[in-house]
Amino acid sequence: MFKSIFKKIITNLIPKNMSLQAARHILTNHDPDYLAIRDLLMSDGHTNENWQSGLGGQAYLLYGLVRALKPKTIVEIGSARGLSACTMALACRHNHQGRVHAIDPHDLNDWTDSPKINQEQLEFFKNRLENYDLSDFCNVIQTTSEKAALNWNQNIDLLFIDGDHSYEGVRRDFELFKKWLTPRGLVLFHDTGWEFNRQSPWYRKDLGVPIYLNELKKNNFQSITVLDEVGLTILDPQKGGMDFLNRM
Ligand SMILES: C[S@@+](CC[C@H](N)C(=O)[O-])C[C@H]1O[C@@H](n2cnc3c(N)ncnc32)[C@H](O)[C@@H]1O
Repeated sequence: MFKSIFKKIITNLIPKNMSLQAARHILTNHDPDYLAIRDLLMSDGHTNENWQSGLGGQAYLLYGLVRALKPKTIVEIGSARGLSACTMALACRHNHQGRVHAIDPHDLNDWTDSPKINQEQLEFFKNRLENYDLSDFCNVIQTTSEKAALNWNQNIDLLFIDGDHSYEGVRRDFELFKKWLTPRGLVLFHDTGWEFNRQSPWYRKDLGVPIYLNELKKNNFQSITVLDEVGLTILDPQKGGMDFLNRM
């Protein structure tokens, strides 16, 4: 009933000479949720919005995992222009709970994807959060993971590591934050599949994530990798743990 009343009100508001399609276009383009879904999740949206990101289709996985696991505290290491952070923040809003703490120095370093960095990168990210009305679901922390870890004092339900991709960097990030993970917490590592994609023009010899992941597996950590071009691995941070896909 409310739906039909709402439809009547809206229909009356539309000028007589305007097509329904044009009116819908105007209404949807002012809806932050629609804009976010369009840019972050609708087909190829993530390539259209100038994110300059290598996340690609793994954005769908991040969104789905956050919706399914309903984490309260998410820590992201490596935000760049904010595609992964905005996607997880959107899932938090749809869950009516949770917050992404997005750590990145936003300076020029070996792992910046974007040719334009510094203020431009950070401004882009913050503008996206504002346009999508997601600022309440994402805490932007402009510093390195090392520095952020010094003041960190909260339990973490989901840790997404996508910052310094060197062997030492990824290992350090896992070591720094793993002690904060809740017993049901999970860790996501991006760029774990490059050993299967050495012919790619984006392949880098200094990418240490797959090597570190293999080391964790040898040390009895359980994980599952969703392998596309780059790979995203979900790891149970409890050594010897298992059945993490059934732990919800
Ligand atoms: C591959 S990009 C992240 C991509 C992003 N997750 C996305 O969805 O587009 C890697 C980012 O890690 C950041 N980074 C490098 N070293 C870092 C560190 N020690 N702590 C936090 N972030 C770091 C870089 O500044 C860069 O923006």
